[in-house]
Amino acid sequence: MNMDKDKLIEGFSKLEKKQKIDWINSEFMARPNLSEMVESFWHPDLKKQKVFDEFSENTITNFYFPFGVAPNFLINNRVYCIPMVIEESSVVAAASKAAKFWLSRGGFHTEVRSVEKVGTIYFRYPGAASALKNFFENYSETLTLEASELSANMEERGGGIIDINLIDMNESEANLYKIEVTFNTCNAMGANFINSILECFTEKFKQDVNTGRVLQEGNYPVEIIMSILSNYTPNCSVRAWVECDVDELGEFPGGMSAEVFAEKFLMATKIAQIDPYRATTHNKGIMNGIDSVVMATGNDFRAVEACAHTYASRKGTYSSLSRAEVANGLFKFELEIPMSLGTVGGLTSLHPMAKYSLELLGSPSSDELMQIVATVGLAQNFSAIRSLITTGIQKGHMKMHLLNILKSLGASEDETLRAVDYFKEHKVSFKGVRSFLSERRSYQ
Ligand code: MEV
Repeated sequence: MNMDKDKLIEGFSKLEKKQKIDWINSEFMARPNLSEMVESFWHPDLKKQKVFDEFSENTITNFYFPFGVAPNFLINNRVYCIPMVIEESSVVAAASKAAKFWLSRGGFHTEVRSVEKVGTIYFRYPGAASALKNFFENYSETLTLEASELSANMEERGGGIIDINLIDMNESEANLYKIEVTFNTCNAMGANFINSILECFTEKFKQDVNTGRVLQEGNYPVEIIMSILSNYTPNCSVRAWVECDVDELGEFPGGMSAEVFAEKFLMATKIAQIDPYRATTHNKGIMNGIDSVVMATGNDFRAVEACAHTYASRKGTYSSLSRAEVANGLFKFELEIPMSLGTVGGLTSLHPMAKYSLELLGSPSSDELMQIVATVGLAQNFSAIRSLITTGIQKGHMKMHLLNILKSLGASEDETLRAVDYFKEHKVSFKGVRSFLSERRSYQ
């Protein structure tokens, strides 16, 4: 293999931060002095910077994302100002717009359906399935007892292990089984709790089976493949919805009546149910809202994403996470989605802005946070569909994107003000903004 060996390094993680930056600069950067740029994003208070440095290995600086808020969210009769971390320019505006729209129509309604988390232990066992099943019938208590020290704290808070089941996977793969464990992890996302318990179970199970003390039918060894929590938590789910009489929807851009709007809205959600091409974009819009609150509160957006998309495929085809209906003149739009969130543990109290976000939300329980997050997903989806079936998405999107275009073209403050004013009445495009600037600049 022809590779540049100079660019490889041993023991990089052990270098000081400055040394890491110098090494990157000398080996990988085409322009000199990029280290100054990287260092300019360090927090001036080095104690605060250390907090960020320690979240992850090989941190050399911070990567800034906008932290915004969407006010006027009425959820179950309580008003929230919701923190959102997102770089896409129109997302916070869209959420705020939907919040305002539903504020005078009863707000958002939500309910947590269930809060069960899942852990899995996969293993191979070549003996008779019936012997394993017999053995397992009375075995879950032994496992629970083995983990009692680990689960004591969680039990005190009202959570712990809910159930342990042996699942025969021979149909998919010979000799394969899984032990599926369900948990209530209270206000914690629970990954560490679940994984610790699973590893404790794994050790005990391996010992008991392999010492032949438990299975009477012969000495078949159990081979543990792995034990890990599942990010798919279909029974940790939340529902958010809005509803009002069709007449109350009001009038839409271009003079579109409430009836036409409702009918087109239903068709748009139906398309997202039947066509995976649209469903993917439709759900991406929902995740714009969901991820931004998940990020702001220091939760794991990759876990939430993975779970949402598995759920969206649960019927065998990837489909919409939301649905709409009109029944007896009542327009109803809802989102049901599983997600696993925490309001204690993880980054929630370590990241100063995550801590702030949770305080801004009134220090919610994880159940309440699920409801807030689902609401923002629904709001986002409502705004996107509303734009798509009325003005088209680009009008609002490009209006918000205008500032990015101006920045990329090096517009001054004065030019920016004039451009924002001008493009209130004109269609925004990169070419249009460039001509606008060059025309003005040629007069000067
Ligand atoms: C863009 O980030 C999200 C949308 O494409 C969502 C949608 O089409 O529903 C606007």
